[in-house]
Amino acid sequence: MPTPFVFITRQIASEAIERLREKAEVEVWLQESPPPKTVLLEKIAYTDGILTMLTDPIDSEVIQAASSSLKVISQMAVGFDNIDIAAATRRRIPVGHTPGVLTETTADFAWALILAAARRIVEADRQVRQGIWKPWGPDVLTGLDVYGATLGIIGFGRIGQAVAQRAKCFNMHILYYSRQRKPEAERALGATYVDLEEIFRRSDILSLHLNYTPAAHHLVNRERLALMKPTAILINTARGAVVDSEALVWALQNSVIAGAALDVFDPEPIPHEHPLLQMENVILTPHIASASRETRRRMALMAVENVLAGLEDRPLPYCANPEVYS
Ligand code: DGY
Repeated sequence: MPTPFVFITRQIASEAIERLREKAEVEVWLQESPPPKTVLLEKIAYTDGILTMLTDPIDSEVIQAASSSLKVISQMAVGFDNIDIAAATRRRIPVGHTPGVLTETTADFAWALILAAARRIVEADRQVRQGIWKPWGPDVLTGLDVYGATLGIIGFGRIGQAVAQRAKCFNMHILYYSRQRKPEAERALGATYVDLEEIFRRSDILSLHLNYTPAAHHLVNRERLALMKPTAILINTARGAVVDSEALVWALQNSVIAGAALDVFDPEPIPHEHPLLQMENVILTPHIASASRETRRRMALMAVENVLAGLEDRPLPYCANPEVYS
């Protein structure tokens, strides 16, 4: 049997690439920016496996261009909203992803944003660097107490629950909303299920942890932001398109809410002229919630496990479209 060919769309942990090289000929896209779509179209036409990132638009056009020998698309991320899963399933191509491995790292980062936004750490750091060290004063850079506050979590899967776990140490009241109630997690974490309207109304800090699906598009919109407390803070480490950014600008400019911390944006990177970039009460980070060295290494190894399974005609251990096997 000829050696299979695998295209990896970014430089990943060398340990993972070496593992793949034992079984396949591997080409790695070495540039800092993702390969343009033209490159994806060209590579997918003759590759047996492709290891992708969330920055790669694996849409129906790319999937249609895939060679008949393409056995696996393996995404190095838990989310796969950049991949047209239905198109892949129609062509019976299994799609892998990396769930679980990044849960704790992402929850840590959501908490970093919660604390930084509530206690205005980035704003304070900016002031000190700019030579603005106001003398200690009763109102200087006052923020929101996190301990004892009400934390709303939308999306109560692994990451949402890991965020709730940490909130217990801060004596927080934990509310959650998800499509399905999770009675066991409610009991374990002391969390209360509420509907969407109530979670927007009652949360002091509202943190988003849901998968992006068409139903989640602009779930955070002007009407719902208007329900929030003027002291509330919005945290997004899920996907940018869950939030209507125009509505968020409106809410922040009009003191409808107090602040936001966003690790994700739609589109990414955020356009240079976007008004959020000018706002003191917004923290922006470039989609790095899972970016610890160890987690990225483990994600790469997991993605390679999926590629190897696909090449060997075994079911992918972490498959986003298991229906391909039925
Ligand atoms: C994911 O895995 O979906 C995160 O957004 C990036 O690690």
